[in-house]
Amino acid sequence: MTGPARGITAASTDLLVRYESTRGPVTALSHPGLTVEAGTSAAIMGPSGCGKSTLLGLLAGLAIPTSGQITVGDTIISALSERDRVRFRRQHLGMIYQADNLLPHLTVEENIALAPAIAGRDGDDPAGLIDHLGLTGLAARFPDHLSGGQRQRVAVARAVAGRPQLILADEPTGALDETNAAGVVELLLDAQRRLGATLILVTHDPQIACRLDRVEYLEPPRRPSEPVHVA
Ligand SMILES: Nc1ncnc2c1ncn2[C@@H]1O[C@H](COP(=O)(O)OP(=O)(O)O)[C@@H](O)[C@H]1O
Ligand SMILES: [Mg+2]
Repeated sequence: MTGPARGITAASTDLLVRYESTRGPVTALSHPGLTVEAGTSAAIMGPSGCGKSTLLGLLAGLAIPTSGQITVGDTIISALSERDRVRFRRQHLGMIYQADNLLPHLTVEENIALAPAIAGRDGDDPAGLIDHLGLTGLAARFPDHLSGGQRQRVAVARAVAGRPQLILADEPTGALDETNAAGVVELLLDAQRRLGATLILVTHDPQIACRLDRVEYLEPPRRPSEPVHVA
């Protein structure tokens, strides 16, 4: 199945994520809003601790904001129950992290086939994807027997195997050298275009960010006023 644009628009409005800590509330994310149109790609940049992973987690429905709204396609995912968010994630999303999160006891091919199998979706043929992503000959290997660059290629293959409409990548090249990083990003962009998917990618690397359609900079959340300690 190729051709038709399948991507979905991901949008956030007035997001606030606040955690209670023993030293008072901590603001993890404060962001006015973002819309990434269906089938386009956006890089998220910003200093460490500004809430990039928090934002991606909200878009993935891994958490819900303290206030504000997340919409993916026609679904307000921030209003769904946890169970429905899990279902939504399995059906529509592909995710990639800095650490590959491959299952060590499954081979390359089994790791790639897993995501669509869990979602009960028809996936891309793992063998075809393996060739396409430059992993020919590695299908029967275990992750321990791959280089970091190869593992991240497998992570890309796994994320896109279920033909997701939205791909979320949190510093997917953060642990790779420049050459491997560039290769992994090209694979990701290639898969995104082939699927017509929407891609949101967090990176610290301006050279990677500029490969995407646009760049969104997150400001560090303003420090909440210091809690008053009464001795
Ligand atoms: N579960 C949590 N409890 C308390 N603080 C958190 C939690 N998760 C994240 N934070 C804080 O929220 C801020 C944003 O974190 P994060 O989204 O991981 O930033 P980034 O990915 O941009 O480096 C950080 O200051 C972090 O320490
Ligand atoms: Mg992060």
